[in-house]
Amino acid sequence: MDSNIALRHFKMEDAQRCSSLMQDHFLNHATNLPIEVRIQISNSRTSEYIQKIATDRIIIVASLKDKIIGMGALKENEIRHMYVESKYQRRGIGSRIIRFLEREAYEKGFPSIIVNSVDQSEDFYTKNGFQSLIKTRIERHGSILEAILLEKFLDK
Ligand SMILES: CC(C)(COP(=O)(O)OP(=O)(O)OC[C@H]1O[C@@H](n2cnc3c(N)ncnc32)[C@H](O)[C@@H]1OP(=O)(O)O)[C@@H](O)C(=O)NCCC(=O)NCCS
Repeated sequence: MDSNIALRHFKMEDAQRCSSLMQDHFLNHATNLPIEVRIQISNSRTSEYIQKIATDRIIIVASLKDKIIGMGALKENEIRHMYVESKYQRRGIGSRIIRFLEREAYEKGFPSIIVNSVDQSEDFYTKNGFQSLIKTRIERHGSILEAILLEKFLDK
């Protein structure tokens, strides 16, 4: 069944489904964050928000038939918005999205990609060849979140 999961570039008509994926994550799964932060971030992840950010970054989606079950984005050389729907996690979809984003960054001439990992995803990135650099704090929609900055150097 996983061979039916295709990766492709985001289209504007995907915005509602990407919004639902993000909102589900923050409302139901991001339990390491305070509930008020989860609600605030979830409310901000509207389809209009997705359409706006799609103008300044590359977004990749993983689709199964008409359903979007995963996504990831690249802003300059920073990975953003990595989500795989919970029931499809641990099947290699997130890693496939990372490899797609790595190729995009490499083709744009970046020597490395970085990510500020929140939501306890550090192991996922180290498993994909990233090195943890420092603990950081990042601002996401008015909330300050604890994060870890990781980097991966790109080669062919
Ligand atoms: C992080 C996330 C995108 C990973 O997607 P995924 O499709 O499940 O990842 P993969 O199946 O490619 O995982 C590859 C490896 O990463 C590691 N990994 C993935 N998720 C992990 C987790 N929750 N805890 C520990 N290790 C994990 C495992 O070693 C895994 O290999 P294995 O399943 O053979 O043990 C997904 O769990 C997710 O959407 N999480 C919620 C949102 C999030 O945290 N986003 C990142 C914000 S920076």
